[in-house]
Amino acid sequence: MFEELTGHEDPHPIYEQVRALGPLVEVGGQWVTTSHAVSNKVLRDRRFGMRFTDGTYPGFAGLLPQSFLELDPPDHTRLRRLAMPAFSPKKIDEYRTRVEKVAESLLDPENSNAGEFDLMTDFAAPLPIAVISDLLGVPDSDTAEFADYGALVARSFDTGVTGEMRHANDKVLALFERLIAERRARPGDDVISSLVAAEAERKLTAQELMGTLVLLLVAGFETTVNLIGNGARALLDHPAQWALFKAHPELASDVVEETLRWAPPVQLTGRIAQEQVDDIRTDEMVNIIIGAANRDPEVYPEPHRFDVMRVQKPEHLAFSSGIHYCLGATLARMEGEVAFRALARRMPELRQNGPVIFRSSVTIRGLASFPVSRS
Ligand code: HEM
Repeated sequence: MFEELTGHEDPHPIYEQVRALGPLVEVGGQWVTTSHAVSNKVLRDRRFGMRFTDGTYPGFAGLLPQSFLELDPPDHTRLRRLAMPAFSPKKIDEYRTRVEKVAESLLDPENSNAGEFDLMTDFAAPLPIAVISDLLGVPDSDTAEFADYGALVARSFDTGVTGEMRHANDKVLALFERLIAERRARPGDDVISSLVAAEAERKLTAQELMGTLVLLLVAGFETTVNLIGNGARALLDHPAQWALFKAHPELASDVVEETLRWAPPVQLTGRIAQEQVDDIRTDEMVNIIIGAANRDPEVYPEPHRFDVMRVQKPEHLAFSSGIHYCLGATLARMEGEVAFRALARRMPELRQNGPVIFRSSVTIRGLASFPVSRS
């Protein structure tokens, strides 16, 4: 069935076919859920985890260093706690002005090709790359390398590991090694420095440090890029909503939440039963279609309608749920708000001026190209 989940332009007709089979169904030896309630329950249930009971992990054939996203408690708890302070709501709020500056400068006419530009490559992608690089303490001179790497990793979700990826991976690990050595010698006010200090206190190993940095890098921009792209496209495709937002920029956070519900950048996740749970046997995987759970008619009236005024209750599952709930959610929300507000303020006449190109990914939903004109 997953070969069929390639409706990049609109995966929902396929999701609805799955939904019609029931809230939790076994298809071809795999469990699948499209139900918000079932998804939320599985994500919060400690009888489900990230690994098979023999300790192996279903993803990525050993390319990326292991990170806490792939771990179960107690290691997950220990490592997540070490990364948490950098993403506290207070820290993120202090950071807002810097993000606003980056957004504004990207929209300066001299940076957006005399009015015609690609909203993905010229705005949606550079913003989160600049933000996560800054937060981690990656110098500007290295940022392009990280950006290429992130794009390759995102692609590998669907293509598997390629030689090109291995090469990029080696380069990024070497780059992080260099930055870690620099911060050991001269600590700064950044995430690498604080994790290096924790390593010195033996709160995490060198390998875990590397895994955490790579996770923050990868999780930090390939997702946010698509929040910005999917939201901007939804607004331009729904002129009344776009007009409403331009008149009421205080709705920025509602635009973010409705985009996350309606077109979540991460469409799919999964959990593995650590013991028999009802009909699900030990080591069986439950595939959770976030994109479908977020349009579950049981919880959202008119679920296919993009409506920024909708009451978001219960919360969508774009950031998952339970112990792996996205650590960067506050940061991503803030980046989305800043990006949408900047577009509305600086480019009220923004319009699409060419066909969009979808990313060829099942897991990550978003655009590769979105040609626009500022007037
Ligand atoms: C709109 C943007 C984002 C979306 C849609 C998103 C989505 C997600 C999802 C769905 C998960 C959990 C996966 C699962 O449960 O299987 C997750 C985990 C995570 N995200 Fe995000 N994310 C976004 C932005 C960010 C940012 C900006 C950062 C920070 C740099 C970040 C860091 C993380 C980390 C560290 C985890 C692992 C948490 C854990 O395992 O405890 N994310 N994210």
